[in-house]
Amino acid sequence: MKRGKMTKKILILPGDGIGPEIVAEAVKVLEALQTNHGLEIELDHGLVGGAAYDATGSPLPDETLEKATACDAILLGAVGGHKWESLDIAVRPEKGLLGLRANLALFSNLRPAILYPQLADASTLKAEVVSGLDIMIVRELTGGIYFGQPRGIRTLDNGEKQGFNTLIYKESEIERIGRSAFEIAMKRDKRVCSVDKANVLECTELWREVMIRVAKEYPEIELSHMYVDNAAMQLVRAPKQFDVMVTTNMFGDILSDCAAMLTGSIGMLPSASLDANGKGMYEPIHGSAPDIARQGIANPLATILSVAMLLRYSLDQTAMAGRIEAAVNKVLDDGLRTADIHTEDARQVSTSEMGDAIIAALN
Ligand code: IPM
Ligand code: MG
Repeated sequence: MKRGKMTKKILILPGDGIGPEIVAEAVKVLEALQTNHGLEIELDHGLVGGAAYDATGSPLPDETLEKATACDAILLGAVGGHKWESLDIAVRPEKGLLGLRANLALFSNLRPAILYPQLADASTLKAEVVSGLDIMIVRELTGGIYFGQPRGIRTLDNGEKQGFNTLIYKESEIERIGRSAFEIAMKRDKRVCSVDKANVLECTELWREVMIRVAKEYPEIELSHMYVDNAAMQLVRAPKQFDVMVTTNMFGDILSDCAAMLTGSIGMLPSASLDANGKGMYEPIHGSAPDIARQGIANPLATILSVAMLLRYSLDQTAMAGRIEAAVNKVLDDGLRTADIHTEDARQVSTSEMGDAIIAALN
C-alpha cells in the first residue's frame, strides 16, 4: 500500500471486554472503504486500558501515547472490566482513557442521541415521546471535577477518613466548550441549552455567566439554561424539546447515558472527542460490557457509526461518512438486529454478521 501525502493515519485502540470484537468490525468497514472507495488511510494499532495494564503495567503506555500524538485520528473500543476493579485508581483502565483525553486536549465531546425510526419500539419510553429524537450533547471533557486538584482520600486528626474532589473551571475552558456547542448548533436548529447547577455551585454560576457572554457572538442562537436535576427530568419527560445541550464533564457523563437510553440501545450511539484543531478520538458511548464479551453478540453499530464521525470531523470525508450512515439505515430497514435491539419480527445476527451486512450495504 503506497502512502501518499494525503494518507491519513488512524490509530486503532481496541481496549477491553467487547472492545476488540466491535472494533474488528469497524476496521473491516475502514478497509472496505480503502479497497473499494479510494479512502487513503494507514492503520496503526496500540494497547490501552486493562489490556495495556496486563501487557505493560500501565493503562496508557508511552508507546500508545506517542502513537496517539502522531496520528490524525483515533478509533477506540472500550476500556475496563471487573478484573481490574481492585487495582489502585492510578493504574485502572479508565485512567488510560482519561489520560488520552487530557494529554491530547480533547476537550469537546460530542454525543449525539438519535432515534432510528426502525428502533422506536426498542426504547423504554413511549414511541410518541421519542420518535424523531435528535439531540446533541456537548460535554466538556478535560476539566471539571474529573481533573480538578486537590483530590484524594485523607485521614483526619480523629482518624476518620475524608474523600474530596474539586469542581473547577477557568473562563477560557468554559468559553471554548461554549463555542464548540454554538458552532454545532449553527449547523442544526440553532438552540443551545446550557446545563448547570448555578443555584448551588459557584463554579457553575461562572459557567452560566460565561455562556451568556459567549452567546453574544452568536446572535442567531437561542440560548437557554437549565439546572441539571431538571435537565435529567426533562430528558425523560419531553426529550424532543432539546437541540444541543452543553454541560460540564460530570453532568455530561450522566446526562449522555440517560439520553442514550431514550434511543432504545446504547449500542447504537457513537461519540467524538475533539481538540481545537479537529483531531479526534472516536468511540462508542457504551462501555466494555465484560459480561457479554467474546460471545459474538455485541452490537458493532455504535463503533461503525464512530467511524462515520471520524471521517466527517477529522478527515473531512463527508460523503464517505454519509455512506456509512446510509448503510446502517439500510441494514436496519432489512430487519437485521443484534441481540440488544432484537424484536420479534427481526432477524437476529451476530457481531460479525452485522459488520458483513454493513460492508455489503456500503456498495
Ligand atoms: C464515558 C465513561 C468514562 C467517563 C469512564 C469510563 C472513565 O463513563 O466515557 O462516559 O466517565 O468519562
Ligand atoms: Mg459515561
